[in-house]
Amino acid sequence: MKLNLALILSIIIAVGIVAFGFTYFQISNERERLNSELEEKVNLIAERFLERNLSAIEKKPDILNTDNTEKLLNQYRLLAITVYYNPDSILFIGPTANSLLQNSNDYILQAATADTTVGNYFKEGNRKIYQFIKPVKTNDPLDKTIICYSEADYIENIISSIWVRNFFRWFMQALLVSFITILVVRWGIFSPINNIVEWVKSARIGNLTELQSKPPAGFLAPLHKEITHIANAMREAKLSAEEEARLRANAESVWTPERLKVEMETLLQNKKLIVVSNREPYMHIHAGKEIKCIVPASGMITAMEPILKACGGLWIASGSGDADKETVDKNDKLQVPPEEHKYTLRRLWQTKEEEDHFYYGFSNEGLWPLCHIAHTRPLFRKDDWHYYKKVNQDFADAVIEETKDEEQPFILIQDYHFALLPEMIKKKKPKARVAIFWHIPWPNPESFGICPWQREILLGMLGADLIGFHTQYHCNHFLETVNNSLESRVLWENFTVRMGRHTTLVKPFPISIAFTPKDFDNHISTTTPSKLLAEHGITAQHFGIGVDRIDYTKGIIEKFLALERFFEKNPDYIGKFTFVQIGAPSRSLIKSYADMMSAVEKEAERINHSFRRRNWKPILFLRKHHSHAEIKPFYNLATLCMVTSLHDGMNLVAKEFVAERNKNTGVLILSRFAGASQNMKGALVINPYDIERTAEAIKLAIEMPESEQQLRMQLMRQEIVSNNIYNWAADLLRTMTSLT
Ligand code: G6P
Repeated sequence: MKLNLALILSIIIAVGIVAFGFTYFQISNERERLNSELEEKVNLIAERFLERNLSAIEKKPDILNTDNTEKLLNQYRLLAITVYYNPDSILFIGPTANSLLQNSNDYILQAATADTTVGNYFKEGNRKIYQFIKPVKTNDPLDKTIICYSEADYIENIISSIWVRNFFRWFMQALLVSFITILVVRWGIFSPINNIVEWVKSARIGNLTELQSKPPAGFLAPLHKEITHIANAMREAKLSAEEEARLRANAESVWTPERLKVEMETLLQNKKLIVVSNREPYMHIHAGKEIKCIVPASGMITAMEPILKACGGLWIASGSGDADKETVDKNDKLQVPPEEHKYTLRRLWQTKEEEDHFYYGFSNEGLWPLCHIAHTRPLFRKDDWHYYKKVNQDFADAVIEETKDEEQPFILIQDYHFALLPEMIKKKKPKARVAIFWHIPWPNPESFGICPWQREILLGMLGADLIGFHTQYHCNHFLETVNNSLESRVLWENFTVRMGRHTTLVKPFPISIAFTPKDFDNHISTTTPSKLLAEHGITAQHFGIGVDRIDYTKGIIEKFLALERFFEKNPDYIGKFTFVQIGAPSRSLIKSYADMMSAVEKEAERINHSFRRRNWKPILFLRKHHSHAEIKPFYNLATLCMVTSLHDGMNLVAKEFVAERNKNTGVLILSRFAGASQNMKGALVINPYDIERTAEAIKLAIEMPESEQQLRMQLMRQEIVSNNIYNWAADLLRTMTSLT
């Protein structure tokens, strides 16, 4: 508004000054023109008058003062004419001539003396009068003078009317110019400026869609481009500032991939992070003519993959898919995950013998049953041990090769397949920071003591700076085993083992899954339990879920027996409730696994046979590898989840089920022999060997009031968010870096 007023005033003043200048110039010209026109006219009149009256003036001056005086004046549109002979003889023509003469006295003499005409203006009352004095040369020796008086007010009137006209014109011009200027300013300047303000505002609040959806016309396009750049930069800066602030705010609470990334950068100080495991996170297999990439069923992968995804690094693992060789580069590497390339996977190849003895043999027929108290006898073969050492050495060589330019890399070894790796790496690279995480339980010293190569295994592991287990219980078992079998010093006050000059810290790190506050509102299935079951030919109202590798440690048979007992005791649920068991075939070349597979199938068939109804059966056994996406709807829609491990390091299925329960309903039935039971306080904890009580727990779970389900579920969800995998990784790496 102020600007409008100032603009209008400036325009008025500017136009006014110009208009005044022009008018003044015009008026001067006009006045000059009118004056000279009047002079000419009066001169002409005087001459005509003289022509007509010269002789009369010479001889008989009186004859002029006749009746036609008025006629004469009218004819010449004069006020008066005076013929001046001398002061005593003056002839006045016109009623006012006499009085006007007094204004002429000074000039008469001047004209006569100089013998020239004199014209000037004077004021008579309010009137402006022009007098014209002309000396007359006659034969008469006496000089005479003619004085004509003409009314000159009309000149001032014309001048005034010019002023008025020009003032009006100036006023109209100023008005028009102001109006046009305001329009131009409004549409040509204010409106684009308002647009700019809007863009800047949308840029400030980070609304880039708004900013981009209104590109300006023509001349503002470069400015818009710049603002968009600035907005983008501001948005990025804001996001990272927010992220930093969030990380700081959450410093004592929730861990996220972003926070872990920042933490890792600080901890690693550009040092290389290498993860080593037997099982690879991505496996390529032939599926018809195509190559398919699958994520193997493994708790270790569920846990480790999000860390590598968040922080990058190198993961060295055994290639195991039949299309794995076709999908690596000349260094046996590839970028994964396939869709977003966050870290590098290096595949190491094993011969059939190596696989048979190292993987199937010593790892899974020896160490696996040795560490899991599930009443499957471990088998220790010399050849298996030989290949175990060989493959461990191959992996150690690969690690050394990958870290040849680095003195102090961080090596994170996974699981029981690589008990010897820490010592092998440390021998070649003493300054490397080496940790081994044991994803499975560690049994009591007596149980472990049956292993013929107990000593080598313990020494191999103690090469590490840090040994991690899921629970303090497993740590204690390990330390007791060391205490009983090696000449080392176990310092119980700080859970370390001193071997010569090397110290190893033994510490629990309860592993978890990638569950952050963002995932609290994760996708809710759009289908219903009955629709999901119908896809498998089952008509029932609701279902329970179990997801396991088919492994004798998972207590699948015990689970089925408890379900059988449940239906026996609660026949009302026949036809209404079905249990879905997803079973991923695992290590099927091992006899105990093959037997377990057929035992599980037979048991399901037997139970189904005794309770089966049309379109309904108590157990739906889905025996195949399922992707996470395929399992999700089951987790999401199940009434309950059963984890009945006979012995388990942690068991991440329990945590995955809880993570998918975004409505806070559903019940987790959890074996007390799974590490998870120590933190999942909201679960119904069972002894899977106790069939009767487990059957009761199933009933309790199905009939549990929703309010209680919610209390329990919220408790567990909160626990997982607070202790998610990012927290696990940060804790582990902080511990690694803190060791001297
Ligand atoms: C357990 C082990 C993992 C292993 C997984 C699957 O979770 O701790 O190291 O990867 O079982 O077993 P697999 O033999 O198929 O790798």
